[in-house]
Order: sequence, then C-alpha cells, then structure tokens
Amino acid sequence: MDRMEAFIRGMPKTDLHMHLEGSLEPEVLIRLGERNKRRLRWKTAQELRAAYEFQDLQSFLDLYYEGCQVLVEEADFYEMTRAYLRAAHAENVIRAEVFLGPQSFTDKGVAIAAVLDSTLEAMDDARAEDGISCGLIVSAQRHRTEQDALDLLEQVRPWFGRILGIGMGGAEKGNPPSKFRRFFRACRREGLRITIHAGEEGPASYVREAVELLGVDRVDHGVACVDDPELMREMAELDIPLTVCPISNLRLKGVPSLSAHPLKKLMDAGLHVTVNSDDPSYFRGYVSDNLVECQRALGLTAEEIVSLVRNGFIAAFIAPAERRAALARLDTYVSGFDWGR
Ligand code: ADE
Ligand code: ZN
Repeated sequence: MDRMEAFIRGMPKTDLHMHLEGSLEPEVLIRLGERNKRRLRWKTAQELRAAYEFQDLQSFLDLYYEGCQVLVEEADFYEMTRAYLRAAHAENVIRAEVFLGPQSFTDKGVAIAAVLDSTLEAMDDARAEDGISCGLIVSAQRHRTEQDALDLLEQVRPWFGRILGIGMGGAEKGNPPSKFRRFFRACRREGLRITIHAGEEGPASYVREAVELLGVDRVDHGVACVDDPELMREMAELDIPLTVCPISNLRLKGVPSLSAHPLKKLMDAGLHVTVNSDDPSYFRGYVSDNLVECQRALGLTAEEIVSLVRNGFIAAFIAPAERRAALARLDTYVSGFDWGR
C-alpha cells in the first residue's frame, strides 16, 4: 500500500449514502437464504458474485430486490446492520448514516417493528461496542405510488424520534421528485430531514426538482447537475451537499471509467461534494475504496481528499458539538500523518 492509500484508509471519515440491503455480502446472503428457506437462483456465493455485473440501475435493482427476500427475521436485520457497521468501523468510518427500505419487507408480511427495532438495536450495539456514531434514514421506493410512500410514513411514525429522516431510492427514470411532492411536504411537516436520489440516471432537471420543489437537505448522487452550469452555480450558492458514489456510478455504467467521473468537475465548481459507498457489497467498494480509486483515477491531491472528507462531516446530520469534535479529529490525523518524506 502506498502512502496516499494508507493516508486515505486511515482517515476518520463518514459514509452518508449507503443502503444496508446493499451491504449483504454474497456469503451472508446465501446463508440467510438457506436459514429462511428462500429459493434463490444461485446456489453458492461464488455463483451469486458472478451475477454482479450490471448494465444499468434497473438491472442492479432487480437483483438487489431479489436479494432482499432473504431478510425475514429480526435476527437477519440485526446481523446485516451489525456486520456493515463493523466493516465501516474497521475502515475508520466514525459517522455512518444508513438507508433501509422497509417496503421490500413489509410487502412480504414482515412487521415494520421487526425491521426497524432490530436495525436500531444493532446500531445501539455498534455505538456501545465500537464507538461508531450512526443513524438510520428510512427510505421509500419511488417506483411505487405516492400513496404507498405516505402509508410508509404513517407506519414509521412511532420511530420518528429514533431516525434521522426520510430518503428515497429505486428506479429513477420516469419517477421524478415532483411525483412525491405531497409526501415530502408531509415529512417536512413532521420535522423530519429529507433526502432523495436524483441525477443518478435521471437528468439534471430531477436534481433541480429535488432542490427547488422538495427542498431536500441533501441530494443523493446528484452527478447529473454537471450537465446544467446554471444549476451547478445554484447548488454551490445554496451549499446543498451531494452524496456522490463514484464506484456505484461506474458499476451501473453511468460513467465509462472513474477517470471520466464528474467528481472533480463538481468540486471545482464549488459544490458540496461528499464520497460514499451506496451498495458496497454489490459494487465491490466501501467508502475508503471509493476515495482511493477516485484519487488515482482523477489525480486528486491530499488536500482535495481532505476536503471531500471534511465535507462529509459538515453534511452529516449530527449536532454541532459532534461535528466540531469530528473535524478536530480529522485535523489531528492530517497534521500527524507521516508521509515518509
Ligand atoms: N437502492 C439501492 N441502491 C440504489 C441506487 N444506487 N439507486 C437507487 N436506488 C437504490
Ligand atoms: Zn443509493
């Protein structure tokens, strides 16, 4: 490992855009499938891993939702969450904000309490055992109706005090943010933070809708705004964070290579860019891998890497005292790092 890679891997960092369901490693997915007697198309982890070749977002989502059927019991959600937080802690993530989409499970008869309580319990244990700071964002699926999202919001009501907010993922094209205007207004009325995936496969106009129509706190992905210079100026002016996931964009063929990724263009235009993992198992990359690979492909300087990681702490849904402490910890790490020169 070279010094730059060691620097990146050792940095205290955030992961603000990841889906717990996308952290299930193939071995775990196969094991849970057997435990819950779910018929899968793959017999072994090796076979499943070989299926992780995607043409676009939809081809990934098809597999991802199929994988979700192995999650049935409370213990499954607990194990998945605890395993991700352990992996995050091991790569020096000190703040993780994670998505979970209950509709995949409640649709199949799993009680919402089984999904949320076990996930939150694993987060409590990770905090207590590893000292990792973490929070849950409940995610709604945009290929469903707005009424489905509103129903989910009602189901989640008893947990409002224990979650960070509400997000939205799923098939983007044809399901613009404007489809969920009433839903996000209802979330806001409840005092919940809101984020939405926009400009991942969809156009820049979806990012504009997310910001102007919904008034989101962060845009997940948001990379398409590189196509609209006026929007980029507005995003920079408003300082709305983008939770970018470069390896995800590469695997879903949003970009032909990481060297063609707009990450640096967005940074140079003054946007609040953060780097995150999205679905680390399916895309073969945790947040440190994303930073290392972007540094190499785009020739980012150590200062630019530090700026991306700082942006993560600034964009995190944490109290000012925690933010100050995290930024101080980052500064201490950066100034004390031995470059061997
Ligand atoms: N759900 C999980 N990963 C996603 C992604 N990359 N885009 C939209 N929805 C998702
Ligand atoms: Zn995502």
